[in-house]
Amino acid sequence: MSTNVTPYQDGKSKKEQVEAMFDSVAWRYDLLNHLLSMGIDIGWRKKLIRHMKAYDPKHILDMATGTADLAIMAAKRIPSAKVTGIDLSKNMIAEGDKKVIKKELADRVSLKVGDSENIQEEDNTFDAGMVAFGVRNFENLDKGLQELHRVLKPGAPFYILEFSKPTIFPVKQVFNLYFKAVLPIVGRLLSKDKSAYTYLYESVQAFPDYDQMKARMEGVGFKDCKWESLSFGICCLYRGIK
Ligand SMILES: C[S@@+](CC[C@H](N)C(=O)[O-])C[C@H]1O[C@@H](n2cnc3c(N)ncnc32)[C@H](O)[C@@H]1O
Repeated sequence: MSTNVTPYQDGKSKKEQVEAMFDSVAWRYDLLNHLLSMGIDIGWRKKLIRHMKAYDPKHILDMATGTADLAIMAAKRIPSAKVTGIDLSKNMIAEGDKKVIKKELADRVSLKVGDSENIQEEDNTFDAGMVAFGVRNFENLDKGLQELHRVLKPGAPFYILEFSKPTIFPVKQVFNLYFKAVLPIVGRLLSKDKSAYTYLYESVQAFPDYDQMKARMEGVGFKDCKWESLSFGICCLYRGIK
């Protein structure tokens, strides 16, 4: 299935468009995220961290960290760990940095601008890795997964949280209506970006989920890959081990 749905159709690469889109919505990202998800994502994030905590990681990579919600949650819930968050968008990182400082976590959470498809870190660096709602935006999913695999230590757990396509009636119908009709309108009004929240629905539709995603993880070398459907199939938690 194609993963090359792009936000703007302006002839630029998907990566350039995604970076521009997140730079443009960064100032309103947290408000929109909390409003539109109605807080449901918090439980999904907690579940990921709970799994990861069992591995007692000392250094965690949060790729596509955005405004650092997951990085901050990991640092709070695993106090012995430090977290490195990386994101393509400098404006998302700037918003994240403000939160890290406000929460007095700057000694354990460091954020930087970078690309999942060309990670500026040594092989075998991190004890655990995670990506929340980021892989769908990668220009080259396999290259991103390959790079994430490279920078994890052997035996390290790797997690992906991503929207999936619910199949159960009436969740599917409600989800489609919400994502297709409500979200783009509210998103456009609050973020002033015409395309960002239309792209969200289209990119979820075009993205591999469940066994297809598991196969992509296995394809770059992750072992023992599993997925767990969350909230009636709205979201999926994928796990694999390097
Ligand atoms: C929907 S946001 C998710 C942010 C955060 N993980 C969260 O859960 O709120 C997706 C993020 O992926 C980032 N992103 C997209 N492609 C990327 C890439 N190739 N490398 C690093 N970050 C990327 C975007 O800049 C954006 O901040």
